Amino acid sequence: MSEYELVVRGGTVVTGTDTIRADVAVSGGRIAAIGTGLAGATRIDADGLLVLPGGVDTHCHIEQLQRGGGADEESWTTGSTACLAGGTTSVISFSTQFKGAGILAPLAEYRQRAAKAMVDYGFHQIITDATDEVVWKEIPQVVSEGVRSLKVFLTYDPLHLDDRAFLRVLAAARRNGAMVTVHCENYEAINWRTEALLKAGLTAPKYHAWSRPAMIEREATHRAIALAEMVDQPIQVFHVSCAEVAEEIARARARGLKVWGETCTQYFVLAAEDMDRPGFEGAKFMCSPSPRTQADHAKLWREIRSGTLDVISSDHSGWSYGHPKGKPVNGTDAPFRDIPNGVPGLAARLPVLFSEGVAKGNIDLNTFVRVTATNPAKLFGLYPKKGSIAPGFDADLVLWDPAKKTTLTNAHMQHAIDYTPFEGMEITGWPVATLRRGEVVMRDGKVQAEPGSGQYLPRGPYDMATPRGVLPDGFDASAYA
Ligand code: URP
Ligand code: ZN
Ligand code: ZN
Repeated sequence: MSEYELVVRGGTVVTGTDTIRADVAVSGGRIAAIGTGLAGATRIDADGLLVLPGGVDTHCHIEQLQRGGGADEESWTTGSTACLAGGTTSVISFSTQFKGAGILAPLAEYRQRAAKAMVDYGFHQIITDATDEVVWKEIPQVVSEGVRSLKVFLTYDPLHLDDRAFLRVLAAARRNGAMVTVHCENYEAINWRTEALLKAGLTAPKYHAWSRPAMIEREATHRAIALAEMVDQPIQVFHVSCAEVAEEIARARARGLKVWGETCTQYFVLAAEDMDRPGFEGAKFMCSPSPRTQADHAKLWREIRSGTLDVISSDHSGWSYGHPKGKPVNGTDAPFRDIPNGVPGLAARLPVLFSEGVAKGNIDLNTFVRVTATNPAKLFGLYPKKGSIAPGFDADLVLWDPAKKTTLTNAHMQHAIDYTPFEGMEITGWPVATLRRGEVVMRDGKVQAEPGSGQYLPRGPYDMATPRGVLPDGFDASAYA
């Protein structure tokens, strides 16, 4: 009898720190051994391929509930298919709160919807209304259900929190051992510039970038860090668009603060000029914070190499170009302010980042694995189950052809959205098979997994979300307010 259920033979195994030629043995859905000459009941030949940990995408909006009922176009079925096609095996998506209501009922509905997932999944809890009930009763409840991260928006109507409400959420997170993720842009500055742009008749999609220049992202990032420092609460700054903002995180880290930075695929490829296309076309590239300039891409890679930015996620937020509830929900001549923000990118994330990052020499293979799998798993309490290849980890593996050339089109993405902002990119490197807990769920682009076969990932207490214990004057205000 073979010692192991499955052996992936002869590939080059890559983790966040090491690259070795080895076999990977799997039993009971977990990695059982790494070595040479391993034998299993089933064998997958990985000669000439890289064996990577399954991607961990800790920021994506899948079937997110919408105010007034219904949910985003991307369902858990289509979203999971896209993930597995692109080599991602775990995601963290968002349970919502609508102002004037609590967080428990939407979470219960969201859990039901996510039960159809084919990818393993956890949730962040969005907080848009920091009432006493929410911060003292409901946040403890959702944390006890394994939702160990909160997201707050410092901008966007009707989601944004003012500084006082943000402090109440930071304090609640501190009391409950949860991470806080922050959308950092200055609400009042964006509104002021938007009002001026619209009065000046500058309404086309490209003015989205003009409404929110980098310094208002930098300011909000600085403020979020200062307030988190005062509360002594770890935070992750989401979707950092450029080095100017990352520098705020570097300063915080140099002072020993628990502040981490995430950026997204689109900030290495897209630029504000993409929104300057004829007619409504620019809406396809509209997300917040705004894509910056071509020159910013190289600077952002530097922030990855230096370790200031730890995570590259997709921030997949899909709105079809031709769907009445998608980008044109308010008409194809709507001013930029009224066009939904977000770009799709679940399946594109790993191929685009491998191609732009590894194949073009901007990062090495181990850094690629760290920022797309290991660090996101660590930062959100999924480690040591997800994010690496070592005995005991879930056998989430991607067999990757590092030399394969592909012209990326929307058909490769397998999501529900009718376009990709990365259409036509020449890509080097491609996932040829995805294994989720030892099961082959994608081979040569064909996804085969049972709806509902994804597992919920409840998250318990973990070091990165634990406060440092350093408070101004030693007074813990979070115990009172
Ligand atoms: O434009 C974006 N990023 N849309 C998704 C929502 C968010 O802010 O993460
Ligand atoms: Zn955001
Ligand atoms: Zn997002």
